Amino acid sequence: MLEVGSSSTDIRDLIRFQSEAVSSHYDLPPKFFAGFLGPRMAYSCAYFIDENDTLDEAEENKLLLTAKKLDLREGELLLDIGCGWGSFIFYAAEKFGCRAIGITVSEEQAAFVNRISEERGLGDRARADVVHVYDMSYPARYFDKIVTIGAIEHMDNLHLVFSKSSEILKDDGLMLVHGMTKPWHDREEELQGITSEVGELVKEHFGIGYWKSLWEVMEALEKSDFEVLDHENITRHYQLTVERWLERLQENEESLIGKVIDEEKYREFLVFMAGYIVGFETSHTLCNQILCRKINYGEIRPALPLTRENIILSPRKERLCKKN
Ligand SMILES: C[S@@+](CC[C@H](N)C(=O)[O-])C[C@H]1O[C@@H](n2cnc3c(N)ncnc32)[C@H](O)[C@@H]1O
Repeated sequence: MLEVGSSSTDIRDLIRFQSEAVSSHYDLPPKFFAGFLGPRMAYSCAYFIDENDTLDEAEENKLLLTAKKLDLREGELLLDIGCGWGSFIFYAAEKFGCRAIGITVSEEQAAFVNRISEERGLGDRARADVVHVYDMSYPARYFDKIVTIGAIEHMDNLHLVFSKSSEILKDDGLMLVHGMTKPWHDREEELQGITSEVGELVKEHFGIGYWKSLWEVMEALEKSDFEVLDHENITRHYQLTVERWLERLQENEESLIGKVIDEEKYREFLVFMAGYIVGFETSHTLCNQILCRKINYGEIRPALPLTRENIILSPRKERLCKKN
């Protein structure tokens, strides 16, 4: 764990170690991930308005819900911490007219995003940089909005992540933190040094992993001058998402093994997906979306919406949209 007062050599070593470890997962060929993810290559929990939604529909729902929670507006500058293959930065740029910058530790992912951005003529309205979150060096109050989806699981020091985010976000700016946590029971055992074989394997699969409990995430946010506006537990949605990934991975077995990925790696992913489904079913793994505002101390609070109406997907309305 990166401690306050760590020397700059320690920090550089840690950043190098984490970047290499995490990239070992994400630098696998994008064609392999395309073998189980939806068309937008979102590698995170989708959102189901009903259980019969397809993965592709649920991915669209998640992007729309995320944009709604962030109240995205045309011309805004968005930072996506851990942007993956760019699902949300493309969505924000193309559907909402934002300028979106993503950061990732994976060279493969950044190259993928920048190539697609060029092909779609987006120029610098959607781009990805290879930057470790601890190394972010944007000017103070630079971004209108910040999002991080499925990436905090790779970060050991959330206080550092959120205090840096707070610094580069405009006053009253919104940040959406979407990520997995552990229930306190499991986290407490881990803090006491009780490790499980499964836990160790999960860390290895993802290169590195630091699942916290929800209150630890909230604590780090509050200590970084964020006010939590809303929390939604989306664990069930992640279970449904991974069930669909697993189905797709199995359907595409023939076209993947030996052509895109070796059999051992393929089977490792199968086992992990099955394990994740059990983790969600048995409450060992949870998933959350936390919406926050950067507090502008001493100033009048903005007149925020009185109800949650603007940050939910209404089943009735969305079904009507689907029909038309
Ligand atoms: C599970 S993927 C999620 C990607 C994307 N947000 C999505 O929803 O598809 C996690 C992402 O976090 C990035 N990441 C992990 N650790 C990071 C770090 N320390 N700094 C910056 N990005 C990081 C990875 O490179 C990857 O792009």
